[in-house]
Amino acid sequence: MIPELTRPSVYMRDSKRVEGIIQAMQQSGSNSLQVISDFDMTLTRFTYNGKRCPTCHNILDNRKLISEECKEKLKDLLNTYYPIEINSGLSAEEKLPLMVEWWTKAHALLVQQKIRKDLLSLVVRESGAVLREGYQLFFDCLQEHDIPLLIFSAGIGDVLEEVIRQAGVFHPNVKVFSNYMDFDESGTLQAFKGQLIHIYNKREGALLNAGHFQALRARRNVLLLGDSLGDLTMADGVYRMQNILKIGFLNDKVEERKESYLKAYDIVLEQDETMNVANAILLHIT
Ligand code: C5P
Ligand code: MG
Repeated sequence: MIPELTRPSVYMRDSKRVEGIIQAMQQSGSNSLQVISDFDMTLTRFTYNGKRCPTCHNILDNRKLISEECKEKLKDLLNTYYPIEINSGLSAEEKLPLMVEWWTKAHALLVQQKIRKDLLSLVVRESGAVLREGYQLFFDCLQEHDIPLLIFSAGIGDVLEEVIRQAGVFHPNVKVFSNYMDFDESGTLQAFKGQLIHIYNKREGALLNAGHFQALRARRNVLLLGDSLGDLTMADGVYRMQNILKIGFLNDKVEERKESYLKAYDIVLEQDETMNVANAILLHIT
């Protein structure tokens, strides 16, 4: 068995099953594998040096882009809706309309701010966003073995692309499904493009992008990484899936949510700020 799976942050409801899936994936080899990962709080760290790290949306919370008043309003939204997002006492059905409300209100506020495209790289650089320890090995290993990585995020595509570009890991094997900003010809934000992706409609987003999964139809094994129960549907568009291994980062409200994460994810990583487990599995398979 892979030694990293015995780390104290690793929990599995059925370790024999996990072992079996990894073995099957290893036998099929890297040509049969695709990786689908969430972005915020999955590829990025939840905390760093005792401080909460920002999501894509929080990265825009910079006075160079938005007014003090807008900052306050976004903070109020976060304080209202984030506790709902992580509330284990509410079902996905109960949370869904409230999550749509959060994203819709936040995007409307951002559009009012006339955000300039040319400032995005600067605010990303000034933000405290940090990719998880071991990210370099993760991205480089996938690139080296030509394994497609789909980053499927309810965050903001323009922002997350800039984070991975600045980290030097936006390799050609990386594809992003996310909410993209629509800038006018002067480079000012005027809207968000396409259908909104929030944490509970990733299944619809996957089905809308059937062409992507069709192109990867020979890759029937999936390594899925997420931090929310909504991330579990990211692979719903995969063509005739053979094996799927789901790794879930349990960052916040650990005790309350552990049971539901253990039921839903094959491997649960409790307050683990590294990519070590995913990397060890990838190195084993490739
Ligand atoms: O990349 P991912 O799908 O994880 O992005 C979604 C995350 O963005 C959510 O977990 C949510 O907490 C966060 N979010 C935010 N501000 C908003 C909307 C969502 O920080 N206005
Ligand atoms: Mg996330």
